[in-house]
Amino acid sequence: MKVNGVPFRTLWLDTDGWTVCLIDQTLLPHAFVVARARTVEDIARAITTMQVRGAPLIGIAGAYGLALALRQDPGDAGLASAARLLIATRPTGANLRWAVERVQAGVVSLPPAERAARAYELAAELAEEDVAINRAIGEHGLPLFRAALARKKPGERLNVLTHCNAGWLATVDWGTALAPLFLAHDSGLPLHVWVDETRPRNQGAALTAWELASHGIPHTVIADNAGGHLMQHGQVDAVIVGTDRVTADGDVANKIGTYLKALAARDNGVPFYVALPSPTIDWTLRDGVREIPVEERSAREVTHLRGLDAEGTWREVRITPATTPSANPAFDVTPARLVTALITERGVCAASAAGLHGLFGGGAGRKQ
Ligand code: MRU
Repeated sequence: MKVNGVPFRTLWLDTDGWTVCLIDQTLLPHAFVVARARTVEDIARAITTMQVRGAPLIGIAGAYGLALALRQDPGDAGLASAARLLIATRPTGANLRWAVERVQAGVVSLPPAERAARAYELAAELAEEDVAINRAIGEHGLPLFRAALARKKPGERLNVLTHCNAGWLATVDWGTALAPLFLAHDSGLPLHVWVDETRPRNQGAALTAWELASHGIPHTVIADNAGGHLMQHGQVDAVIVGTDRVTADGDVANKIGTYLKALAARDNGVPFYVALPSPTIDWTLRDGVREIPVEERSAREVTHLRGLDAEGTWREVRITPATTPSANPAFDVTPARLVTALITERGVCAASAAGLHGLFGGGAGRKQ
């Protein structure tokens, strides 16, 4: 995607061929700053602090993190401890473990001196695969939005609601949930996107709004609690979200608040779509509510807000009483029964074991 007319991915190698460059997402939309990671610890910190975020991008960053680790220490113990460090950074998304273990498995049988170079190659392959998967999700999702527009009166625009950021910033490029919307806009569909602010970290207000504005897509940021009201008044034609982990039975973990949107969508007869790259499927789990680990993040993300003041200085302000406790579960699970369809790189399917099996043959080649 382009930033001020210049094509960018979210992650790339510096001119030295090994330093990992990342768009620092904690500073968007106010500043576009490139961070450089030279050690596995740099990558682990970037993931934990959410300089990089979004399940697919975390996976690719983890793959490059392992490559960086192998430059420092290519031995068996170094490989195993770097993989452990990276996988522990964020527990909910399936892609991180998947990508790190793919690189680990691809280098472990090599002599240590050859491991780092091979890890870079494998990480680059995963990055290219991510771009291709997301583009395919866009193409498979587009007809759903064309059909939704066809159900509207001539001259009306299509209103789509999204939660969190599942755009190109959450992947290497294209995004998952936003990929069909980029294609819809590019092919001339009159589109408007309701963007949930996505408390507590405001990925919608900060990142999705920035992406849509950069791409010229009409959009409106709303408080997280506004979606149900808009659905009741016929102002939402479809909901589309990304996901961090989908079970073999089609339960969907995504940013906290997604479940409430799915409930409101069901109550109002609004289709609820989930854009799903196959590395996000966890074939080992069935019951998402009971089995998917939900990351608990710092209470400070709830008690404080951060942004630019009128003078352009970063400020953090407290919004709760100083002694009030707060909790910060970062994800929730939407049961498969509330999901209208999964949009994958292989096509659209029901959120069910049968639906996923039909496209992926029970996960062959994709098991975690
Ligand atoms: O905590 P985040 O910002 O990493 O959460 C991101 C999401 O919940 C996204 O919707 C999900 O990773 C899918 S991104 C293609």
